[in-house]
Amino acid sequence: MTDTEFVSLSEEDTEDIAARIAGDAKPGDVYALEGDLGAGKTVFARGFARGLGVPDNTRVVSPTYTLMQIYEGGRLPLYHFDMYRLADSSEALDAGFDEYLYGSGVSLVEWASRIEDILPQGGSMIRVLIDRGNDDNVRRIRIRRCREI
Ligand SMILES: Nc1ncnc2c1ncn2[C@@H]1O[C@H](COP(=O)(O)OP(=O)(O)OP(=O)(O)O)[C@@H](O)[C@H]1O
Ligand SMILES: [Mg+2]
Repeated sequence: MTDTEFVSLSEEDTEDIAARIAGDAKPGDVYALEGDLGAGKTVFARGFARGLGVPDNTRVVSPTYTLMQIYEGGRLPLYHFDMYRLADSSEALDAGFDEYLYGSGVSLVEWASRIEDILPQGGSMIRVLIDRGNDDNVRRIRIRRCREI
């Protein structure tokens, strides 16, 4: 199990950290992004997309209403979810999201705790926890790849 911690001092820092992390992404990986409203999950997703090589002119925003956005054109397809509005995982299953979570692209899931029970188990799961620091622009970003089972 790898556990890495970064301190970000700005939005750009968070994007750069995420872009580097994306370099390690493998087909089927699912990144569960946890953190409060405004923590920086979408900023992380934006940097991650850049790190995968998704074209620069692609707008990466929280898919709050659409729930999922697919980004093509990078090293791997990227599936960006925002589960904030879901009551539970059955809605995600009804929408067919398991096909993506268990597919061969990379998933980034904002508010993954909403669908905890349908997330993959084991080594393809990566937890990303973003906490605010003392200063407005400071974030602590912890990355943990779950153990193979
Ligand atoms: N170090 C930092 N890293 C990331 N974002 C930062 C940082 N410092 C300030 N910010 C600001 O925090 C906000 C993060 O917004 P973002 O939309 O990424 O949050 P979120 O976690 O996706 O929220 P939501 O749960 O509402 O989707 C942005 O306005 C960004 O400019
Ligand atoms: Mg967001």
